[in-house]
Amino acid sequence: MAEHTPVLLDEVLAGLEVRPDGRYCDATFGRGGHTAAILAALGPAGRVYAIDRDPEAVAAGRARFGAEPRLTLIRGSFGRLEELVRTAGLEGQLQGVLLDLGVSSPQLDEARRGFSFMQDGPLDMRMDNESGQSAAQWLAKAGEREIADVLHHLGEERFARRVARRIVAARALEPITRTSQLAALVAEAVPTREPGKHPATRTFQAIRIHVNGELDVLDAVLPQALRLLAPGGRLCVISFHSLEDRAVKRFIQRECQGDPVYAGLPVVPPEARPTLRRIGSKTVASPAELARNPRARSAVLRVAERLAA
Ligand SMILES: C[S@@+](CC[C@H](N)C(=O)[O-])C[C@H]1O[C@@H](n2cnc3c(N)ncnc32)[C@H](O)[C@@H]1O
Repeated sequence: MAEHTPVLLDEVLAGLEVRPDGRYCDATFGRGGHTAAILAALGPAGRVYAIDRDPEAVAAGRARFGAEPRLTLIRGSFGRLEELVRTAGLEGQLQGVLLDLGVSSPQLDEARRGFSFMQDGPLDMRMDNESGQSAAQWLAKAGEREIADVLHHLGEERFARRVARRIVAARALEPITRTSQLAALVAEAVPTREPGKHPATRTFQAIRIHVNGELDVLDAVLPQALRLLAPGGRLCVISFHSLEDRAVKRFIQRECQGDPVYAGLPVVPPEARPTLRRIGSKTVASPAELARNPRARSAVLRVAERLAA
């Protein structure tokens, strides 16, 4: 079975400040690298609630941790975080929430999941491959302008318009259903080459983020994570894309400031007070980690602590 090397593992453990009896949520379980390390730091009374929207991640987790009584594995999107953990009564109870965004190595490496321009597979790209629209379905119907906007905004593809035009022309002749087909079309449309980078990298990234609604679920999860944290609880978020990191940074900034309407006033109502305290600034992978795991390249970790109400 394909493996995933957890990114910034020591830094996440330090950020979470794991307490032996604490309750933690790993909202992006993946292959359980971070969950395993949190469990190792917990005593018998500690708990991890782990979530993943990918059925294969949850199945692999059950196989790996089946008999672990301190772990609850939940399948679903963290966009519905509060609903997913509500039955466990965790409002204001968690000592930490971890979000390790993006895709896992098994998702990228398994050709049949359709994330990779390096290997031929069905053009799927859904993390939850049992619901929603695949990349092929989206590309079959989206307008040229919509495709160009997605590639430009989410992939920062300079040649977004050309690529979109090429896709629309090609799909009029035959449906685009394979990753290799899309990769070849993009390579034809992009006139320049970035050293060490496949010309379809940006297009694949953009379509993946779009198909999985990754920025929308990130916006949805941050306030929910905040409400689930106990005072002193830690929020740790690892982003791999500048738009994700910007959303996390702005959320933390806003919550550290409180409502600006009350700035400088002697009495601030509880709902207008700051809810978070920033812990350090952003952390990136060390040269040693990058040498071991090149996929840590664009990872950025931000940590904040929940303040008492
Ligand atoms: C980078 S991997 C996490 C790896 C994990 N920390 C580990 O060490 O094995 C991201 C995982 O989060 C999952 N994921 C991404 N977005 C999600 C969402 N909105 N809801 C639930 N899981 C999500 C993906 O399916 C993937 O398995």
